[in-house]
Amino acid sequence: MFGFLGSVLAFFISVPLSIFLAAPYIRKYIAGGVCKSTAKLNGKVVVITGANTGIGKETARDLARRGARVILACRDMVKAETAVSEIRDTTGNQDVFAKKLDLADTKSIREFAENFLKEEKELHILINNAGVMLCPYSKTVDGFEMHLGVNHLGHFLLTFLLIERLKQSAPARIVNVSSMAHHGGKIRFHDLQGEKSYNRGLAYCHSKLANILFTRELAKRLQGSGVTVNALHPGTVSSELARHSSVLYFLSKILPFFLKTPVEGAQTSVHCAVAEELDTVSGKYFSDCKPAYISPQGHNDETARQLWNVSCELLGIHWD
Ligand SMILES: NC(=O)c1ccc[n+]([C@@H]2O[C@H](COP(=O)([O-])OP(=O)(O)OC[C@H]3O[C@@H](n4cnc5c(N)ncnc54)[C@H](OP(=O)(O)O)[C@@H]3O)[C@@H](O)[C@H]2O)c1
Repeated sequence: MFGFLGSVLAFFISVPLSIFLAAPYIRKYIAGGVCKSTAKLNGKVVVITGANTGIGKETARDLARRGARVILACRDMVKAETAVSEIRDTTGNQDVFAKKLDLADTKSIREFAENFLKEEKELHILINNAGVMLCPYSKTVDGFEMHLGVNHLGHFLLTFLLIERLKQSAPARIVNVSSMAHHGGKIRFHDLQGEKSYNRGLAYCHSKLANILFTRELAKRLQGSGVTVNALHPGTVSSELARHSSVLYFLSKILPFFLKTPVEGAQTSVHCAVAEELDTVSGKYFSDCKPAYISPQGHNDETARQLWNVSCELLGIHWD
């Protein structure tokens, strides 16, 4: 009897104790890769989209700490100004600003770029970070399905408008924040706007695959320009990204232990933006600050070229 009770007691003590002792190792595993570069960015100009919260805000903070002039390109200027004050206070870098950019509106993107080109003579790092996920079916001001419009087409147009300034400022880098969700994506040329069938989870995956294909095609076109472009998966991060799904949002709030913090989630973006060993690396995909596996669809040069051409047509631009 006592032997049985002893075993039960030992079980109830040893299991929680093992979990308690293993917790720091589990947490370190979840936190993932850390950017080891100590590169300074004094004199460098950085633009980060969607930097008023989450991964973008922590990426902005890290690059500000390294001395860069950082422009937070955001749609919500109240949140953006709060983020600017916080970043200035915590880094001591006063050269941090917020500018209005709504990626769901090509007029706003053009206005942002026009003002930027007037005010800034150089651009060394462009981080296409902003994103939406699991939106109920909706369209941007220009009639693009929301995930495709914000996550892909908005950044495609922004990059097009800023590309000459990046080339003039070379060496320069473009960093596209994609996701491992691209593995579930497909470019459905027959129904790009999801009008025939729509699944909000898949719409996110398709847009993140578009980020990978854009990176691939752009890298080819930028060869020899001194501008590199890479894509990345930041990890599964506790942020506001799940705001359109009450279940996911609730889970992310009660299980933060199993998710990366935004600081941890920013590491691969920072790595792609500053790591010295990536000076000439272009067209690649990273996760946890290491090269990562791209889905077979993400390797398809024909799809990448076709997506490029269709994106130009939809946006009414010529980009050779
Ligand atoms: N969190 C993850 O687990 C995870 C995993 C893989 C990939 N990612 C990618 O990481 C990136 C950052 O996501 P996050 O997790 O940091 O999410 P988040 O906290 O929701 O931040 C997203 C940012 O994008 C901005 N944004 C959304 N729509 C915009 C628009 N139309 N114009 C301009 N800005 C807009 C948001 O601005 P508002 O605050 O005004 O809405 C916010 O600043 C996204 O590209 C996402 O796909 C995240």
